[in-house]
Amino acid sequence: MLIHLIAAARPNFMKIAPLYHALKKEEWATPIIVHTGQHYDLNMSDAFFKDLGLPEPDIHLGIGSGTHAEQAGRVMIAYEKTLIETKPDLVIVVGDVNSTMAATLAAAKLGIKVAHVEAGLRSFDRTMPEEINRIVTDSLADILFTPSKDGDENLIREGIPKAKIKMVGNIMIDTLIANLEKARNKKTHMHLGLKEKDFVYVTLHRPSNVDKKATLSTIMEHLYRLSSFLPVCFPLHPRTRKMLTTYGISCRSNNHLKLIDPIGYHDSICLAEQARFVLTDSGGLQEETTFFKTPCLTLRPNTERPVTITDGSNKLTNIENLWPDIENLLNDSHKTGKIPELWDGHTAERIVERLRE
Ligand code: UD1
Repeated sequence: MLIHLIAAARPNFMKIAPLYHALKKEEWATPIIVHTGQHYDLNMSDAFFKDLGLPEPDIHLGIGSGTHAEQAGRVMIAYEKTLIETKPDLVIVVGDVNSTMAATLAAAKLGIKVAHVEAGLRSFDRTMPEEINRIVTDSLADILFTPSKDGDENLIREGIPKAKIKMVGNIMIDTLIANLEKARNKKTHMHLGLKEKDFVYVTLHRPSNVDKKATLSTIMEHLYRLSSFLPVCFPLHPRTRKMLTTYGISCRSNNHLKLIDPIGYHDSICLAEQARFVLTDSGGLQEETTFFKTPCLTLRPNTERPVTITDGSNKLTNIENLWPDIENLLNDSHKTGKIPELWDGHTAERIVERLRE
């Protein structure tokens, strides 16, 4: 069974890694990594392949950046050619980035079966490009692997037959557990001059937070203020750095507010575990902090990962509430939560088992 695994952007590499390693052990399966090239910088792509023990992609489409239509269109055109040449039996897509949706469309139109890992997540906010990608991908996929019960409920409500849906747990947690020792050994916080549980780890890159000048400068003001209470470590996503430069907002790093280049997977996991709290708009960090029971503030009006709030350590915030919410955390009032069902490191095994059947 020839299986394409679609890699594309930073969060996807963590989701395909456990599947690649699990499928590689199966005699009946030949997994092939297809990198669309949506993310291409060394520290946004290659570093993750290295950290996760993934080989060089078998196929690289070299798509690069662009508007949503340009990016999705380029993936469809390039990937259709690959599909026709290589004729896979199954395409596995993960997550919700533009390449996930575009690869699904190209495969579905050629009648090639698609499995979606991390299916069923919904923020119910169609201003988020990822929500559109999720809806399109799930409506076309033949097999839908969900991370949590809310995923199953969302899909059933949308009329997807139950037989196509299988709750398998959270694939990101497979990667986290498999890499925990390496991440801990890195002691990234110490190399950055930060002490255990005595700093804040920040990641922000969503267009809704970084693309508007007023919002981005307010966020930066809050971060400077926060850094007078606790050191802050903020690796800048290329989109965020670009917007700071475009708007002429200072991104000078100092000992209290460390604005650094994007960091690797092990470094990020180490900081997520060691931080006093995390401020983010990333999907993955909402889940990783839930696993570590590290308090997390998510600067978004909604989340497609509600289990991180109902079960985990996550709380939504907005620009108006950001400072009061930060103050609460500085005063040590926070919840730690519990680890959700099937976030146990065996999700890839459950997926492989189902595919074997
Ligand atoms: C994409 C995903 C988002 C995910 C995020 C993780 C979509 C719609 N968005 O957002 O869901 O959370 O990845 O990082 O698919 N750039 C570089 N180097 C790179 C990649 C990007 O400099 O390797 C810059 C380019 O200027 C580009 C911008 O970052 O225009 C945005 O990249 P893009 O992949 O379009 O969106 P992200 O914001 O990264």
